Amino acid sequence: MARLIVIFGVTGTQGSSVARVFLNDPGWKIRGVTRDPSKPASKALEAKGIEIVKGDLDDPSSLTTAVQGADVIFGNTAFSDAFITMPADVVAQLRPGQTVRQWCYELELRQGKNLADAVAAVDGLDRFIWSSLSDATKWSKGTFKGIYHFDSKAHVVDYIYKTHPRLAEKMSILQMGVFATNWKWDQAAVPWEKVDGTMKLKVPGSGDIPIPLVVPSDCGYFVRALIQAPPETNLLAFGDRMLWADYVALWSKTTGIPATFEKTTVAEHAKLSPNGYGEQVGEMYAYFQDFGYDGSDPSVVHVQHYAPISWMENIGVRSNGLLLPISTTMPLLNQLNPVTGELSLRSKTMPDAKTDVVKIQKLVDFPNAGFLNGMATLNPRLGLVIIADAYLGGIYRPDTRTNTKGLVFTDESMNGTASISIGINGIRVLSGKLWFTNSASAHRQALLRNLVTSLFEHESISTTWHKAKEAQRLAEKLVTLGKKNTEASRRRAHQIFYRPLELVPKLFGPIRERYASRPGGYTRVLRIEPIKEDQAPSAILELVDGPKDMRFAMTARTIARTRTEGKKINDITASNIAKVTRYREEGEGDLERMVSKFEGMLKEGEKGVEEVRQKKVYPKLERSR
Ligand SMILES: NC(=O)c1ccc[n+]([C@@H]2O[C@H](COP(=O)([O-])OP(=O)(O)OC[C@H]3O[C@@H](n4cnc5c(N)ncnc54)[C@H](OP(=O)(O)O)[C@@H]3O)[C@@H](O)[C@H]2O)c1
Repeated sequence: MARLIVIFGVTGTQGSSVARVFLNDPGWKIRGVTRDPSKPASKALEAKGIEIVKGDLDDPSSLTTAVQGADVIFGNTAFSDAFITMPADVVAQLRPGQTVRQWCYELELRQGKNLADAVAAVDGLDRFIWSSLSDATKWSKGTFKGIYHFDSKAHVVDYIYKTHPRLAEKMSILQMGVFATNWKWDQAAVPWEKVDGTMKLKVPGSGDIPIPLVVPSDCGYFVRALIQAPPETNLLAFGDRMLWADYVALWSKTTGIPATFEKTTVAEHAKLSPNGYGEQVGEMYAYFQDFGYDGSDPSVVHVQHYAPISWMENIGVRSNGLLLPISTTMPLLNQLNPVTGELSLRSKTMPDAKTDVVKIQKLVDFPNAGFLNGMATLNPRLGLVIIADAYLGGIYRPDTRTNTKGLVFTDESMNGTASISIGINGIRVLSGKLWFTNSASAHRQALLRNLVTSLFEHESISTTWHKAKEAQRLAEKLVTLGKKNTEASRRRAHQIFYRPLELVPKLFGPIRERYASRPGGYTRVLRIEPIKEDQAPSAILELVDGPKDMRFAMTARTIARTRTEGKKINDITASNIAKVTRYREEGEGDLERMVSKFEGMLKEGEKGVEEVRQKKVYPKLERSR
């Protein structure tokens, strides 16, 4: 049965784009909400098969019916034009001291809350996509308090988290980048100045930070992607990031009008329009430069963060240098130009299709094969190939003339592991030797990713000594990525964590702050007594200077015990105190608090103190940073 998407602002730029994308999908029914179902734009949408209903975000009672039965709702509000036009009826409504901008903020916030209240009451709703923007006041730490059309939308998100937590669990946030079409607007919005037949774009801010630009009619594609992504994804939607100077150069090239870029100030920009409109937009441009369009909110992801959903491998090289990778998830043969990156589809219906590249013909069936994988040439003159079976851990040598196709040999080193049954993968024959890789190493990667995901979630994990040492390298690398704090490093971290939406913000937020002044050695491996029956050497891998720092706790315990026994702190403990407090903010205070806790426990004979000791850490044997 088709699912129902309800679109607010369906007659507008974002909403109509969402309608367009879902109109082509037979799996969806569309309902569009407008204040005026009789206007031409509404009628045109209705003529395309969209159910058009009346609804006004200022009238909560009209929203209940509009959202009824929805599987997905796209919510969008438009910041009132009153802040530009200053109509007399709005001015008459202002409270003493209230500006029109603040009035518009309250209006949009109220509309968003009305919508959230209605959406929260929809039974069986799968997803609410809220078209939002960043909280400029929050992320600029109060430097920019007047970018009301950003804050109003972000404060709707806060309202949902506070008032409708169950709706928050089904919400995805869409932050559309700067519309690439804005240049058609007025000068205060997009500050072009005509100078002797040429155009000059004057934008407040340094001009050094690229701006995320989006074609607004792409909105629907981002909404569709958000429905496929997990809920609570906070997506910044853009096609490309550009410096204003590059944007102007492209604009000039496209329109044929000579144009240049010049930096300006918020104060200068404010003069372009009275009553705060120029100032609000000017502040917005400066905010993009000083804090980032999304305020550098660590929860924000970009489409580039998502790994490609298709899986290609077994690449063949054509004589003209083009590559023929195979989609393993679909019966597709692709052609890739390794120089331009251009990817084209050569065949959809392997194995019988004829294409302009190759004639595909089925030669041999392998009914007993496990998982046929890599293929290599054994003897080009005789036309002999070999094929790996990753599941059975062996090699086939099919002979198309005799149609023999048995496994010619299997080998233990080609097997998978107990937990991943996929073994031998890519194969090559070189100088009479067979070279192969084994997919079980993918299992190792998965294991390491699992360990570091748990480590960053819980701050400390117990595992075998060897796994701890391997995971430590990856964990150190992750912290380094966090400290780099670039788009590329964020993308990489996203690929490593199994729960990136939860952990990427933690890595680029509190963890990055924790290790800001530490030059390295963010993790520690402490050997402990074997935790498994097989007596394999075990270890704790922990993030140092965190809430579960074992050495910190052990040092506190030693101090507490020494003090309780009326002894003096020895040199080793003194050196440990220096080490565990050196890079910790509030290090000495934190240590003293923990010592007092242990002293209290020791006096009362509580067993918490013993628990720290019971882990039997062997610091002298194997200690590592
Ligand atoms: N320009 C940019 O660079 C940029 C970038 C990111 C985000 N944004 C944000 O995008 C938003 C505007 O989106 P848009 O460009 O898609 O809007 P738009 O094209 O101006 O259309 C506004 C839509 O909102 C609907 N609407 C207005 N008041 C309503 C109400 N009281 N109840 C129900 N529907 C109402 C209108 O529907 P009816 O008239 O049919 O009722 C119309 O469909 C703004 O809030 C802006 O801050 C802009």
